[in-house]
This record gives sequence, structure tokens and C-alpha cells, in this order.
Amino acid sequence: MTIWMNGGLVTPEQARVSVYDHGLLYGDGLFEGLRIANGRVFRLDLHLARLAQGALLIGLDLPDGIADLRRAVATAVAAHGDPSGYARLVVTRGEGALGVDPATCGRPTVFCIVDRLTLFPPEKRTAGIDLVTARVRRPPLDVLDPRVKSLNYLNNALAKLDARRRGADDALLLNAHGTIAEAAVANVFAVRDDELCTPPLTDGALDGITRRTVLELARGFGIPTREASLGHYELVSADEVFLTGTGAGLVPVRTVDGMRVGQGPLSVFERLSGAYQIRVEEDTRAAA
Ligand SMILES: Cc1ncc(COP(=O)(O)O)c(C=O)c1O
Repeated sequence: MTIWMNGGLVTPEQARVSVYDHGLLYGDGLFEGLRIANGRVFRLDLHLARLAQGALLIGLDLPDGIADLRRAVATAVAAHGDPSGYARLVVTRGEGALGVDPATCGRPTVFCIVDRLTLFPPEKRTAGIDLVTARVRRPPLDVLDPRVKSLNYLNNALAKLDARRRGADDALLLNAHGTIAEAAVANVFAVRDDELCTPPLTDGALDGITRRTVLELARGFGIPTREASLGHYELVSADEVFLTGTGAGLVPVRTVDGMRVGQGPLSVFERLSGAYQIRVEEDTRAAA
């Protein structure tokens, strides 16, 4: 594990946040999960742009700007040495008064952890994962906009807990209208009638970098793509269902609420999964 924090590399023992940090007290902050291959971060520009957009939306001033965050990530990744892995970039509102008022906070707290992350056991990548519909729902856009990748992940953690308690690998979160938003920390795709469908961002999905990449790859293959609301019916009657995310990669789904999905071959999934791995390899090598 390698950690960069507030200006330089630190040991895990030195990497401490104040109990007055509003990231800890109120989940007031933002984060990005980054995929490392060939010693480089895959699509770092898109991750930083998403974080900058989030900062704008929550009024979090980044005094040293995105360039500083880029340097922090580069330093941590280089110091780590392992050419592949996962990095977590976190920007909190910083240390402030005990009350919720963000105006009391000084400089944001910034840290980047480089490590490994395993979201699903390797055998699930072929066997597929089991999903259940979570009891908690994704908050509406005007309550806590899911397009902002904030430190408020209680909702996601509760969905995951729900899944675990019910013997599943992950959970689907519905939005207030009852259609599928996404999984706990991944976007959802369904292949129906040779068309690749995923919920629109306005249904409560994060603008996932892996989601974007998969949509681009599908278009490159000439596979029709559609952003469309998906209900339980659309998922369980789909030919293929899979999740996408930086941590998860592309993972096939075996069951939803105990019902088997997609009895046939995972041909679209296999194509996109292979192409995604090549894309990560090529992009990170080209960036070197
Ligand atoms: C709620 C949520 N949805 C989707 C994703 C997938 O996004 P990305 O592909 O950018 O990792 C994540 C990633 O952490 C997430 O937290």
C-alpha cells in the first residue's frame, strides 16, 4: 500500500485525518476509484473531470486545482511500483468546526491510496454473480445527486449489506420510480434483442467511466446501444446482464432475486469484456 496525503508520501501510520474533518463527520467530500495498468491510470482525465464537476456541484473549492490532484496520483502510483492495481483518490471538505457548516472548513484534505481491490472472487467472473433488489433506494437527483461521486455511500453500503445477508453478491438499487438505477458500486447493462441497454444517468446511475468505455466499444463493434429505463422484467427476461465498474471490471450476472437470467451464451459480454481489457492495455501503454 502506498499513500500520498496533503502534499507528499506518508506511511500508513502517518496517514490520519482529523476527527473534525467534514469528510468523516458528514461524508462531505468526493472520491474516485482508479484503475492502474502498465504503471498508468486508465482514463485519468475522465476521472479528474468527473471529480472537478462534482466539486463544482457541491461548492468544494480545489485551491490547487486538478493539476495538483494529477500530480498526487502520479507520485503515489510511481512510488507504489506495482504496474497494476487500484488507486483511491479522496478529496474532503477538510477540517472545520463541529457543526455541519462547510464554510468553517479550511483547505480540503486530499489523499491517494494505491493498493489492490477485489470486489468479487475470481471464479464469479465466469460463473456470474447473484443479485438481489436492495430494500434501500437510490436518492432522487434533487435529494443527493447520484451523478456526484460523493463520500455519502451509506446507501450503497446498506445495499451491499442487504445483499450479503440474503446470500447474494451484490444488490440492485431502484430509484424512486421503481426502475433500476445501478448496483452498489457498478453500472448495469442488459442485452435484449441484440441491443445493449443501460439506464440513463437521470434514472440514478453514476456516469461510470467503465460504462462510457463499454458504450464506446459496443458502438465500435456496431452493436446498437440504448439508454433506457430498465425494470425487473427487462432484466430477468434479458439475454445477458452484466455490471461494469473500475473496481469490478465487467462481471456477468447469473441471477436476479433468485431468477436465472440469460440462459444462452454470453456472446456480447465476452466480446466487450475482451475488448475492454485490450483497451485498458493499449491506452495505458500509449500514455507511457
Ligand atoms: C455508485 C457507483 N456506480 C457506478 C460505478 C462505476 O463507475 P466507474 O466505471 O467510473 O468506476 C461506481 C464506481 O465506484 C459507483 O460507485
